[in-house]
Amino acid sequence: MAPYSPPSGGRAGKLRLDFNENTVGCSPKVIECVQKYLTADHLTIYPEYQDARRDLGAFFGISPEEFTITNGTDEAIQLLINTFVDDGDDVLLLKPSYAMYRFYAEVAGASVREVEYAGDLSFPVADFLEAMRPETRAILIANPNNPTGSAIGLDQIELILETAPDAAVLIDEAYFEFYGVTALRWIRKYKNLFVSRTFSKVYGMAAMRCGCLFTCAENAQWIRKAQSPYSVNMLAVIAARAGVQDREHIAQYVGEVLAARELAYVGFERLGIRYFPSQANFVLFYAGDRAIPIRDALRERGVLVRDRSYEIPGCVRVTIGTRGQVERFLAELESLWKG
Ligand SMILES: Cc1ncc(COP(=O)(O)O)c(C=O)c1O
Repeated sequence: MAPYSPPSGGRAGKLRLDFNENTVGCSPKVIECVQKYLTADHLTIYPEYQDARRDLGAFFGISPEEFTITNGTDEAIQLLINTFVDDGDDVLLLKPSYAMYRFYAEVAGASVREVEYAGDLSFPVADFLEAMRPETRAILIANPNNPTGSAIGLDQIELILETAPDAAVLIDEAYFEFYGVTALRWIRKYKNLFVSRTFSKVYGMAAMRCGCLFTCAENAQWIRKAQSPYSVNMLAVIAARAGVQDREHIAQYVGEVLAARELAYVGFERLGIRYFPSQANFVLFYAGDRAIPIRDALRERGVLVRDRSYEIPGCVRVTIGTRGQVERFLAELESLWKG
């Protein structure tokens, strides 16, 4: 298998529009709680998740038996694969999508098949349904998807769940807050449904590595069997509990990003640059054969974006932050584009 090595070096001090992170930082309440927790006495104790499961469960409206706290979404993906997929099993993905689905499926020795997004980057419903087989063990879908920014509705998710009763279906809602559509309420209705959320994106805690994997209580028991008892460190748990308390911080940031995304669209249109409307906090734009030179030149000017031309020809992905940050990105892009 090919290694997955995201370009995560040398990013400090730059305008980081390359990893879809929160560009203003987490709630100050998170910092306060983590700092308070930093005592020798606390650090000496192995993690205890009971209180966090109660608080996070209350926040998500899910009982503590119906989810597990994970070391980022990445551990949620790994747990799902480790629990339900054996060597040689059929796993169905989309292309392009989040790289870690293929990564963990390949580590498990699964037989991975991928259905390509349509030319307009919309979800290829008919092709996907056709590709599903009775023996398919796992289906992993990001909604909204990264890097396309496109999303599917609940009717399509329901169709997939009903067509694949014997597959573990993950709906990865890493960018849920920017889209607002969730399958979470169905975890009791569909026993094959798994939903993941993360604290790495809108919550501004990617360094902490914390997420949640939701499913019916019976599945959650299986999942927890496959999970190390201390896989999430206590500072991450403290941060997540504090993060969900500050709803105002999140709502404010989401509002800012949605406004900034409109600004980005207007900017692209002004420059005559094709882009793909997005349901998340990032947008793909078309730079043709200038994709890599534009990425590199922006980097030299202190603005980081992500080349995706290796999977969607000519495309670059930019994370949407605040309006001010988008304005800076557009100003640099404009001078390069015309120059
Ligand atoms: C669709 C999707 N899921 C999950 C993640 C990563 O989540 P985490 O940091 O919680 O592992 C990303 C990050 O880029 C993503 O795009």
